[in-house]
Amino acid sequence: MALLLAFGIALFILIISYVYFKRQLCQKTNGLPGPKPQILFGNLINSGILTGKKSFHEVMHQYQQEYGDKFVFWFGTYPILVFCSLEHAKAIFADRHTFEQSPLFLPNFELFCPHSIVTFSGSKWKRHARVMMPMFKRAKVIQHLDVIAECADRFIDQCLIADQVHTNLVRQCQTVTMNVIGFIAFDYDLGAEMNSKTKVMFEDFISVVVNVMFFSSLPQWVAKLYLKLNWKYQKTNRFLRELMENIVEQEQNNQDKAGEQERPKNLISSLVSSLNEQANDEQVSSGLTRAEMFDEVLTALVAGFETTATGLAWAIFFLSKNPHVQKRMKDELYQNDLLITDDVQSLPTLTKEKIDALVYCEFVIKEVLRLAPIASVTTRIALQDTVVDNTPVRRGQTVLIGMNNINTDARYWHHDDPKRFIPERYLHEDKDHHPSALLAFGGGHRACIGQDLAWLELKVVIIRLMQRGVTFEDTPENTGGYEERLTCFPKKMAIRVRFDRAR
Ligand code: HEM
Repeated sequence: MALLLAFGIALFILIISYVYFKRQLCQKTNGLPGPKPQILFGNLINSGILTGKKSFHEVMHQYQQEYGDKFVFWFGTYPILVFCSLEHAKAIFADRHTFEQSPLFLPNFELFCPHSIVTFSGSKWKRHARVMMPMFKRAKVIQHLDVIAECADRFIDQCLIADQVHTNLVRQCQTVTMNVIGFIAFDYDLGAEMNSKTKVMFEDFISVVVNVMFFSSLPQWVAKLYLKLNWKYQKTNRFLRELMENIVEQEQNNQDKAGEQERPKNLISSLVSSLNEQANDEQVSSGLTRAEMFDEVLTALVAGFETTATGLAWAIFFLSKNPHVQKRMKDELYQNDLLITDDVQSLPTLTKEKIDALVYCEFVIKEVLRLAPIASVTTRIALQDTVVDNTPVRRGQTVLIGMNNINTDARYWHHDDPKRFIPERYLHEDKDHHPSALLAFGGGHRACIGQDLAWLELKVVIIRLMQRGVTFEDTPENTGGYEERLTCFPKKMAIRVRFDRAR
């Protein structure tokens, strides 16, 4: 009898829980369709993301085909409302009072950098943005053109070997971008040769960040415990904090020597001159505290290192598949009196005017940023109840914008197949494409603050490669594919490097 009663109670609890969770689920998904979630892992396993079978953007494309422009994707235990049309992106990015950067953009990043611009919103974000943003504007970064060209020369001289097949280009590209961000933002030589300790430490740091991002569906104490017990993380964290101390100390010495306050010339001088231990958001007080400054140095290094390197790797991959594009870029350089030679001494200097005149080269970078799924999505959190395209979004819910879906959508891209790499499209039907149809850097008030630097860096490095007569040749093993880390880079690159004879 007692057994029967216990069984009845258990059955009753089971039915009530089922009804409750079903109702919760429906409420959370706002009536949108989507793949069935699994306990704890949501759609991370059944989509193939966690098992490495598919990259995030491939999954977003597949679900858009199956469910349309709006669907629900379960990121672990979090249901995310996914929006994939240009109109959705415009509405979400434009409404800065309703949509803020969501913690799911870089889940658990506050464990690494609790005082980073990425993790803040409201007045705190504004205080940090006032220090950070001006230093990454085109007018500032263009002053460092020669530094970027020198870093590209280092790359060509140290990494590229004539007639050899290169299988390690992603890592080699990272050496370029690490050098650039070191010099431009921090006036510091990170000495990032291929296996330098700095670079290895950064890679280890990023791999821990990525692992912890996947813990985001579990309680945060699990991630904290993992970090505490992870000796690799403890070691990299110590190393990177010491590196930042050195960078800051070098800048403080420079400013002491210079005496009279000059206008900040780069990020580190802006950060150091903004030091204000009293900085806070309650009173009108500007500047950053020392702890905040350290976290912003680390943020700029992390954000500026892998993203642009991945963009560069994709650029090289696309060029290797399109020899006619390389030829056309070189023709354009030649027509603009930018001789092609491997003799660095006789290379004409790259100036702002010359860079701006290279329109076809600009189209090439634009096409790379359109197609490469470097950061293929971004997220926002709703600060109040709202409606997007007739779908109610409740306060606290996360929305995801499928940027790569929009970048390759035939409704907005009319020249040929939008999934193909064709820089010429900007001379034809896609000449006047909608500005928001190309979303490599997100949009609205939380768009990427480093986008001017990334554009310039990619353009100058690619131009320099062409100027030095480098040709990237395809091989049968150069099969591409996707490898997802903090960014998504080409999985298999095997590219033969040739040097042209001087023209
Ligand atoms: C090709 C290279 C790059 C790509 C594809 C890229 C992409 C992105 C994207 C998609 C976002 C989120 C934007 C949004 O949610 O609307 C972002 C944010 C950010 N990026 Fe980049 N980025 C690149 C290079 C850089 C560089 C060179 C820096 C400079 C150090 C940088 C610093 C940042 C920072 C600090 C944020 C956070 C801004 C905020 O939360 O307000 N990025 N980036």
